[in-house]
Amino acid sequence: MASSFDLNNLLRVNIRNLTPYSSARNEFKGKASTLLDANENAFGSPLDVFYNRYPDPLQHEIKRKLSHIKGVPPRNIFLGNGSDEAIDILFRAFCRPGIDNVILVPPTYGMYEVSANINDVAVKKINLTEDFQLNLEGIAEAIDTNTRLIFLCSPNNPTGNSLRREDVETVLANFNGLVVIDEAYINYSRQKTFIQELTEYGNLVVLQTLSKAWGLAGLRLGMAFASEEIIEVFNKIKPPYNINQATQELALKALDQVEQVNDWIKETVSQREQVSELLRTFDYVLHVYPSDANFILVKTSEPREIYTHLVDASVIVRDRSKVELCEGCLRITIGTPAENERLIAALQQYKSDKQ
Ligand SMILES: Cc1ncc(COP(=O)(O)O)c(C=O)c1O
Repeated sequence: MASSFDLNNLLRVNIRNLTPYSSARNEFKGKASTLLDANENAFGSPLDVFYNRYPDPLQHEIKRKLSHIKGVPPRNIFLGNGSDEAIDILFRAFCRPGIDNVILVPPTYGMYEVSANINDVAVKKINLTEDFQLNLEGIAEAIDTNTRLIFLCSPNNPTGNSLRREDVETVLANFNGLVVIDEAYINYSRQKTFIQELTEYGNLVVLQTLSKAWGLAGLRLGMAFASEEIIEVFNKIKPPYNINQATQELALKALDQVEQVNDWIKETVSQREQVSELLRTFDYVLHVYPSDANFILVKTSEPREIYTHLVDASVIVRDRSKVELCEGCLRITIGTPAENERLIAALQQYKSDKQ
């Protein structure tokens, strides 16, 4: 690995030269009584809210609020229609279809590969080690002159563990493409976020989301934190009004509820530890992996049978038993205490059915 990061070199030429779409709401930003610039319906909307107007393309108010919560300036924040939009934009901005490649470290979140395939970008897979940590030598060997992005997910889905901070720093310090750290589950983690390191590493992109701890998966609001230059690239490419007005208003309201969210996080973490302990008591559970997320990876002797039994009991978990390094594993999300009790009761029933 050699480190000489240059964002301009990394950008696709067509994106570097792109004149972005300039919307009506970009061109006039002040307050006015007569808005005849955006071909909206001036009479109103059929709803109680004035949804007849286009929303703020750059979501200034949400960014201001997020900036307070996260301790990152608004200019370092991009908001997307879920983090999945940010992932897709990274491919479109930095990876030439049919030429460039990215490094993924399976088992990990599936959208990175799907997005790569949609964008016709080759994927180099360097599996995590047996303890679900980075294979630094493998990554170093896989990097070539066309490697543009490395995706690291920490805490990782589906394994639940955090990657070792020193290892992530090694990749950041030595790779001259972008290192994308997906922190969708960071609120549940014992590890510190990387968003305070943006000034240290120009090649760092951190993804977070309101879909998990914030309980807003239905609103679709993902965040990317990066240098101002990288955020400008995101803004150049995104559809002009990628975050709709309803989402913006509801997210603003929700962001005032930090205490409620923190309570849920504490409860989830406590439930995670209790459920992990209980799962360890079943003899068909071979291993309960330590988790820094709101789910647990559990190795079992008969994953398919347990999965089907749980479905019959109306408890749905994720069968990850066919995923490399996760053989025999189910991924179980931590629910409310009542839901977790139903899970444990169904598993006890499975055990007694077998006897
Ligand atoms: C690691 C990881 N990143 C991102 C996402 C998707 O986030 P969003 O809802 O913001 O698109 C998920 C969803 O499961 C995830 O597990």
